[in-house]
Amino acid sequence: MQVVKYMFQPHGDDRGQLVALEEFKDIPFRVKRVYYMYDTGEGVVRGRHAHKSLEQILICIHGSCKVRLDNGKEKKVIPLEKPYEGLYVSNVMWREMFDFSPDAVLMVLASELYDESDYIRDYDAFLKYVENNSGNNAENSAENNAENGSENSAEKNAEKEGENA
Ligand code: TYD
Repeated sequence: MQVVKYMFQPHGDDRGQLVALEEFKDIPFRVKRVYYMYDTGEGVVRGRHAHKSLEQILICIHGSCKVRLDNGKEKKVIPLEKPYEGLYVSNVMWREMFDFSPDAVLMVLASELYDESDYIRDYDAFLKYVENNSGNNAENSAENNAENGSENSAEKNAEKEGENA
């Protein structure tokens, strides 16, 4: 499994930093929904689900947290600790967010509106879904686009991390 991270361009000057995100330019999909979590208690694990279609970018805009990604075959833990760093999470990807610092604000940019029917909340059901839908997830296409130098500038900015992620 390759981890796709976006390093956004901070516009810094003597007043501080600013990051601007535009769909299809900095983000590889149309952003239909934004949500964020904060005041996450110590030891809490959030997420613990996958989506059939939804794609997301996770940005820890303050503090830090970790994300475990699991495509049903491999798992990786990715620390998020920079406000200019975005982690791409494809559809059909089990995710768990944990180790939140007390000041963490985790912002999520999502490709679809909230839709409970898109969730897979049971891990065994997720494994079955992976088995029955292999080749049907956006993970591969995001990786391939990043690899092949897609015209989409969001894809050009993506960094893929291999085995050491
Ligand atoms: P939940 O899915 O449990 O969050 P997480 O998976 O990150 O732990 O969502 C918590 C609550 O917020 C739940 O009642 C559903 C609601 N919610 C919305 O209303 N809209 C949204 O876009 C999201 C992500 C959650």
